[in-house]
Amino acid sequence: MLLVLNGPNLNRLGLREPGVYGSQTLEDLERLCEAWGAELETPVTCRQSNYEGQLLEWVQDAQEHGFTGIVINPGALTHSSYALRDAIAGQPLPVVEVHISNVDAREAFRHTSVTAAVCRGKISGLGFLGYRLAMEALLEGSG
Ligand code: DQA
Repeated sequence: MLLVLNGPNLNRLGLREPGVYGSQTLEDLERLCEAWGAELETPVTCRQSNYEGQLLEWVQDAQEHGFTGIVINPGALTHSSYALRDAIAGQPLPVVEVHISNVDAREAFRHTSVTAAVCRGKISGLGFLGYRLAMEALLEGSG
C-alpha cells in the first residue's frame, strides 16, 4: 500500500506555469496514480497539502497507517525544509522523491534538494511518469 504525497502549489497543476508543469491537473495526476496502483496490484492513497506541518504528519504516521512506501513531491519544500528532511530520515519506510520538471535545468536554487539525501532515490524531469516509476521502484524493493 503506497502513499503519494504532493506538497505546496501542486494543487495548482494545470493552471500553474503550464509551460513547465503541463496542462493536466492534480486530480488527473491522482487518478493516474490510482490507476497505476490498480495495474501494479497495490492500493494507492494520494494526498496534497500546502502546509509543511501536515506533510510532516503524513510522513511520520505512514508506517503505523499501514503504508509500505512513500512517493513524495515536496514542491519548493525540497529546497528548504530541514523539518521535512528530518521527518523522512525518521521514517523507516522507503521514500522516493519526484519532480515533474527537470529541477537541474532550472533556477540555481532548485538544484539543491535538502530532502533527496534521505530518500532512496530521486526522479526529476519525466513529468507524471516519474510517479509511476517511483511506485514501481518501491514495489520492486529497489525504492
Ligand atoms: C517541483 C519543482 C520545485 O522546484 C517546485 O518548487 C515545485 C514543483 C516539480 O515537481 O517539478 O513546486 O517539485
